[in-house]
Amino acid sequence: MARDARPATAPISDPTRDADSHVRFVYAALLFATLGGFGLAVWLPVQAALGQMDVSWLAAAQVHGHLQVMGFAGLFVLGVATRLAPRFGGGHLTHPALVDAAFWCLQVGLFVRGGGQPFASHMPFAWLMAGGAALEFAGAAMYAGSVVLTLRPSIRKGMPNALLMGSGMAWLVVQAALGAVWFPQLALDGTSVLRSDRDGLLVSIQFFGFLLSAFAGVGLRSFPSFFGMPQPSARMGHAVFASLQGGLLLWAGGSLLAIGGVDAHRAVAAGQALVGIAMLLLMSTFGWWHRKTRLAVASQPLAWPLRATLAMLTLTGLLLAVSGIEAFARGGVISTVRIDAVRHIFALGVITQGILAIAQLILPEFASERFVRPPSRWRPVTLASALIGAVVLRGLMPLAGVSGDARLWSMAAGGVLGLAAIAAFGILFLRARRTHFAYLSKVAVWRIQSLPTTDWPPPPRREAPPPLR
Ligand code: HEM
Repeated sequence: MARDARPATAPISDPTRDADSHVRFVYAALLFATLGGFGLAVWLPVQAALGQMDVSWLAAAQVHGHLQVMGFAGLFVLGVATRLAPRFGGGHLTHPALVDAAFWCLQVGLFVRGGGQPFASHMPFAWLMAGGAALEFAGAAMYAGSVVLTLRPSIRKGMPNALLMGSGMAWLVVQAALGAVWFPQLALDGTSVLRSDRDGLLVSIQFFGFLLSAFAGVGLRSFPSFFGMPQPSARMGHAVFASLQGGLLLWAGGSLLAIGGVDAHRAVAAGQALVGIAMLLLMSTFGWWHRKTRLAVASQPLAWPLRATLAMLTLTGLLLAVSGIEAFARGGVISTVRIDAVRHIFALGVITQGILAIAQLILPEFASERFVRPPSRWRPVTLASALIGAVVLRGLMPLAGVSGDARLWSMAAGGVLGLAAIAAFGILFLRARRTHFAYLSKVAVWRIQSLPTTDWPPPPRREAPPPLR
């Protein structure tokens, strides 16, 4: 048997607690998405179309980005990682108290940073924004500490999925540390908009360092088996890891040099191309284009959104690889319009769509629901179609050259579709949770009634509820 490398004294969580560890993260993520990120996604293009673009618009755009990437997607991914990291690592979450503290630091940090930034040219909002960034750093460091210690046995063995998830945690801390340094400087300057070179670096690390590394860690382990592919070899896993992390180091390192005034465009472009190539390597192991799936019959309607997520990841990888190579050849950088479109194809098509599909597949609430009251086959397809519509309107139209007011109104329509999909998912999660509770209490009653009894004659035995699928 493999030896558990965890120190014997490390506090670990108990199984009952592990089963619900994701729930508060999911609720918080859905609140940040519906009340913050997607709300602003509609408001921003409408304001721009009405000609109301000033400094406060730019600050609101940065708040939108942060609430979406770290509030919605980030918290969701961290919630699901509290369930998956123990399976990838030593079996239990190590130091669960760190995750508890991290949750509250991230909550409060995101809230005060998001609320403070638009008004940061006035006191005390400037210091709320800076304090929020510091709290986010504390939360990121504590969360990453717990997950990396949980993954340590598998990281030591060099298992690619644990290496990828661990590096996602490292990038989570790096972006938070940069924010904790730059936002107090912004507060001292009395402005509310982070310089575009610093902001671009933060957003790139959040998307491709933190979210993509975590997604790749989970995907490498699960997706090939969904589509009947063999488990990727360790060599392939290490190639994905090396290409992704090498690309990110070049991209982030080159951007930091450029912020310091050094011309490092080629390093940035090479890094972007390598990150794109890593996505394509990852895709080659998933086999999402195969007609057959190995999903359980009840989960098969989810094959469509999963395929759509992976098709969007392939598109993001192609766009990033080709644009990076082209920028490298001319010694320049990828244009702002293109990088913004690539980010939104990834944000809506891969991250948002992937979150909705994977949550429906693996969260216990939806598993109970599938068993008690199987949802319509059309439900996952409808949610995924709304998100594909949002990708087309927000990401592909600007790439296809649509500009001016038409581009802004199509973005706003994309925002409405994205908001509707997330709000619908939130309602479905609440319903599934009610069903889950009802199912669990039925199972508990059955267990009590099945205990040995001294009554004679014994009460009739109830038929056991069938196991969860
Ligand atoms: C259809 C839905 C969406 C719409 C309409 C939308 C709209 C916008 C707009 C108008 C901007 C400002 C662009 C500029 O500065 O010119 C922006 C930036 C951004 N968005 Fe979105 N967005 C959507 C979804 C998302 C999602 C789901 C995420 C992440 C999960 C996201 C993350 C970002 C980021 C990181 C930025 C850059 C912010 C910065 O400059 O710091 N967006 N978005």
